[in-house]
Amino acid sequence: MGKFEYFSGIPEVGIVPLAPHAGPLLRHVYEQEHGRGGFAGAVSHTYHLYPPTNWLPDETRVLDRFAPHWESSLRPLGGTHHALRMMPAEAATDAYRGMAQLIANTTAAMNVTAPRAPMEYFFEHHSATMVFFIHQGSGTLETIFGPIAYAKGDFLIIPKGVTHRFDPAPGPQYYWMYENFAGDPEKSEAPTTGHFITHSRSDYRYPRSLQTLNERGSFEIVSKVDGVYTRRVHPTHPFDVVGWRGDYLPYKFAVEDVRPLVADRSHVPPSGHTIFRLPGCYICIFTVRSVEKEGMWLPFFHKNLDYTETIGFHFGSFFSSGGMSQLGMVTVHPVGLPHGPKPPALKAFMEGRRPEVHHEVGVMADFANPTRISEFALGLSQPDYMASWSPYVSEPTFTHRPDRLAEIRALGERLADARDALRPPAAE
Ligand SMILES: [Fe+2]
Repeated sequence: MGKFEYFSGIPEVGIVPLAPHAGPLLRHVYEQEHGRGGFAGAVSHTYHLYPPTNWLPDETRVLDRFAPHWESSLRPLGGTHHALRMMPAEAATDAYRGMAQLIANTTAAMNVTAPRAPMEYFFEHHSATMVFFIHQGSGTLETIFGPIAYAKGDFLIIPKGVTHRFDPAPGPQYYWMYENFAGDPEKSEAPTTGHFITHSRSDYRYPRSLQTLNERGSFEIVSKVDGVYTRRVHPTHPFDVVGWRGDYLPYKFAVEDVRPLVADRSHVPPSGHTIFRLPGCYICIFTVRSVEKEGMWLPFFHKNLDYTETIGFHFGSFFSSGGMSQLGMVTVHPVGLPHGPKPPALKAFMEGRRPEVHHEVGVMADFANPTRISEFALGLSQPDYMASWSPYVSEPTFTHRPDRLAEIRALGERLADARDALRPPAAE
């Protein structure tokens, strides 16, 4: 299966007919179309040894309580910030049975899973495309298009409907999973910065090999539509694909390939770090980068008036949190509610203690309003998180002083017209 033909613009691997739906090969292999947009959108064809509909009818049934936390009920989020600690690892729970919903809107959701057991079945999500982020662990994502090896720091994109299975390596595993019910991730790029900031499509890693399995047995596939999980059983292995063609594919994208936009004289807003856009959601990466030399090098206090923000802390010491974040934690900042630097971080800025490099990786996924939070997430919420800004009401630097207005008026006289230094010389 060493044949790669990418030069036509549509990838193909293995044994495929000269053209889709045509030619004598179709009398010998079984073509299956994966079609989005009512067959008018993205599409891929897989060519099988056996008909994909060879299920055993008596074996089909709906599974009760297959993934109970994935269906955790949702409540209005309200005006409170949350910091969610890591979910506990449950023994012998695989990637999907242990999936837990954290927040959701009508088109997108954020979930978390900490698999401890291999999957004895294959999975198909019939309602959503899934974007996984591997916070901890490694393994192989086995798909109908071929395997994808993954490791810590990888995104795995599994388009809606693709038959797959996680085979995690030994050791702790912890994945965030962003679910989209209305579309697939689109690479974010600004018209003025081109195709290579903050990453290139050539950084996406697609399956490049097929391991065709001509096996007879009992092969279970679990599908999910909304909250209904249905099993079906086939007498032949679902990875009986001898070739495929198309651009509707699973792929991997490593966070180390994000080459962020930085600016010496201005703070790049979160939107400058967007990697993927999805219906009702966008995903940004705050990664290792040099610190702005002048101006505000912390995030400004802000109200995101249209999106609820989540950040998963993956690596390092998050610069704006002033040492208050732990790796694996997820913050949830609801729409409209102000937030920004924690007091220790702001103090460092005010005192000019500027680091050279932001040593951090955070995955921010923001969800269009109205976004709701799950009962499961509320069970992980740390009750003291709102207090992490409390030095703003206790430390003399930040609290009320009778002479504050006069002080700022005097400083305004002196500093309001002051310029930063990295600029062309002023006119004589
Ligand atoms: Fe924010």
